Amino acid sequence: MATPRAHSSKRPTSHLLFAISLSVSVLIPLFVPAAATAAVALGEGDGENKSALGPGSQWATGKGEGQLVAEGDTAGGGLVEEDEFAGGFGSLDSMLQWAIGNSDPEKLKEEASDVQKLSADELLKRRQEIKELMEKLKMPSDADLIKIAIADLNNSSISLEDRQRALQELLVLVEPIDNANDLDKLGGLLPVIHELNNANEEIRTTSAWVLGTASQNNALVQNQILGYGALASLVKMGYSTSTEEAAKALYAISALIRNNVNGQEAFQSENGSAMLQHILVSNSVDVRLQKKAVFLVTDLADFQLNSGNPQLSFLSDRLFVKSIVDMLSRFDLDLHEKVLLAIKSILKLSSTDVEDFEFYDLEGVLLRLGVQLEDLAPDDQKEFAGEVDALRREVQTLFQQKLKQVHS
Ligand SMILES: *[C@@H]1O[C@H](CO)[C@@H](O)[C@H](O)[C@H]1NC(C)=O
Ligand SMILES: *[C@@H]1O[C@H](CO)[C@@H](O)[C@H](O)[C@H]1NC(C)=O
Ligand SMILES: *[C@@H]1O[C@H](CO)[C@@H](O)[C@H](O)[C@H]1NC(C)=O
Ligand SMILES: *[C@@H]1O[C@H](CO)[C@@H](O)[C@H](O)[C@H]1NC(C)=O
Repeated sequence: MATPRAHSSKRPTSHLLFAISLSVSVLIPLFVPAAATAAVALGEGDGENKSALGPGSQWATGKGEGQLVAEGDTAGGGLVEEDEFAGGFGSLDSMLQWAIGNSDPEKLKEEASDVQKLSADELLKRRQEIKELMEKLKMPSDADLIKIAIADLNNSSISLEDRQRALQELLVLVEPIDNANDLDKLGGLLPVIHELNNANEEIRTTSAWVLGTASQNNALVQNQILGYGALASLVKMGYSTSTEEAAKALYAISALIRNNVNGQEAFQSENGSAMLQHILVSNSVDVRLQKKAVFLVTDLADFQLNSGNPQLSFLSDRLFVKSIVDMLSRFDLDLHEKVLLAIKSILKLSSTDVEDFEFYDLEGVLLRLGVQLEDLAPDDQKEFAGEVDALRREVQTLFQQKLKQVHS
């Protein structure tokens, strides 16, 4: 399957190690001990200074062999937003720098100048030596790594810490679409879904994250996970008082039902709309989470518009409309923009009754927002406020058109 992912630059650890080995062997074609040192150091989860790899890099399987270092700046998340809650792993660059920094620079320089003195034959021989060395290090395949993580998850006597570590490993391993596609074949989906009901919040959260990552832009995996009925647990997690847990649940739900009719139907029948509404109206909910919820609403509404076969009646539900309109009374430009986009899409749905918006005084709310955008935006946000105001006017025009159609 060649579907490009939002962050195709991310690679699981074994690819990464390979890339680094390659870089090291290109940079220092003859310095075997240095290459070995770098590679071995990378192979140890408990390297002395892990901070160089970023705060999220806690890798090691429950077993002694095949220990790894994590990679993966999990920011972004493509069209399904989840960046602000990401764990923050180190980047490939920082890892490379680390690998290079951990070989002796003086020696490197010396050896590099020696390269020129070597004959082509000698160079070739050195390269061969390095290649053999790398083979001896026996890099496990991604499938091997996935199997190890699954076996750990499937082992009921494993410690909570090792369970969390196994999930963190899977999180990185399932990023490439081929690995995500293999996860179920290797028996991995059910154990991860099972962890959504773990008593430990952190375990539940990471499991949702793994499922979201694996199903992102991947209809096959979406349908496998939906088939196992994971949506019910995820919807439940969306009510969590932990922002982190609710955010990852929402991320997983978004990834699961995005562009997926079955998923959206299941979301509706699992009463997902009540969960969304809970997030939208609760004052105690983190505004970042609310923005993600609004973003999901827009995404679902747009899908209904494009499919020409609206199924998600809750989007046009009166109280749902009220929750959305009420959000415009808050003081948050970014939220305003997202909410206006949502209203714009909802207004266009054939199932929407524009008089519900009239009832909740969308006109008045938009006028007040206009004043607010003009008078209250801080200097450094004037430009953005201008853009949001243009969008506000667009929504206003659309609203008036729809009203006219109804009243004529
Ligand atoms: C780890 O790295 C930091 C910054 O790079 C450095 O200050 C510190 O001394 C290092 N610690 C060890 C144990 O090497
Ligand atoms: C399960 O985990 C325990 C504790 O880490 C370990 O001793 C045992 O060998 C594991 N069982 C299997 C089947 O791997
Ligand atoms: C997990 O363990 C169960 C038995 O406890 C076994 O039937 C199943 O095959 C195992 N799955 C994997 C992927 O190891
Ligand atoms: C959906 O959730 C709401 C709010 O929790 C509840 O009032 C309603 O009964 C639920 N509906 C179904 C079908 O479960």
